[in-house]
Amino acid sequence: MTNSIIDGKQIAAQVTEKVKKRVEDLKAKGVTPGLAVVLVGNNAASQTYVNNKTKTCEKLGMYSVLIELDEQVSEEELLHKVEQLNNDDKIHGILVQLPLPKQIDEDRVIAAISPKKDVDGFHPESVGKMMIGQQTFLPCTPFGVLKLLEYSGVDVAGKHAVIIGRSNIVGKPMGQLLLQKDATVTYCHSRTKDLHAFTKQADILVVATGRAKMIDGSYIKEGAVVIDVGINRDENNKLCGDVDFASAQEVASKITPVPGGVGPMTIAMLMENTCLAAEITLN
Ligand code: GUN
Repeated sequence: MTNSIIDGKQIAAQVTEKVKKRVEDLKAKGVTPGLAVVLVGNNAASQTYVNNKTKTCEKLGMYSVLIELDEQVSEEELLHKVEQLNNDDKIHGILVQLPLPKQIDEDRVIAAISPKKDVDGFHPESVGKMMIGQQTFLPCTPFGVLKLLEYSGVDVAGKHAVIIGRSNIVGKPMGQLLLQKDATVTYCHSRTKDLHAFTKQADILVVATGRAKMIDGSYIKEGAVVIDVGINRDENNKLCGDVDFASAQEVASKITPVPGGVGPMTIAMLMENTCLAAEITLN
């Protein structure tokens, strides 16, 4: 199969270039979009992700603050911090990096973020609006996948999209967003029997299992578009996705690499959401 590799870095650069112009317009009106990122504990991967988020903010001329809290922080203290950020006019978007330590109820923290500042799109109000197709903040990773497909000229309408994974962050919203674009959607997950039977029917296969190189070429229909959401380390400590890239690219027509596929898009969409949150304050 002559396939093309979907260049997420390049598409993310196009998206952020547009955001940068919107930031300039906002600044001319006296508003600097501001993002607060809250990181609890010292998970190395989370630290890398949040550093990338705040660095990109600065590159685009946005204001950003990184709030680092101890692994042992109480739920009450974290909720207090979120409340402060809800009331801080310089902050338009709040992101609490997940996962959170065991002593903290994630659902309570997410629900405490003002829906007006919910740039992750995880608040129940945002999720509900997304489900019924109302304007809201869309979760950054599935939103980024939609953009990748759009910029790569993949028309989703009428296609069979198969999602592997059913997390609240990726799998579930991914299926909803593709459904809204008129795809026929199938959800697969760890309890799915005969996964091959489903994935082999996919025109668009989105893989978000969190298991390194789990999906090889044998799962993929000739000519399918393959989107790999995973970020893992392989046996040589090299970054890799949930898809076995080498065998998958033999059969796919288009495929995202790891790194350089979905990852940069997640950050780009966070920037877009933060910019939108600031724009809304002017209306
Ligand atoms: N952990 C992994 N992905 C995400 C994300 O998109 N947002 C937040 N807040 N935490 C995450």
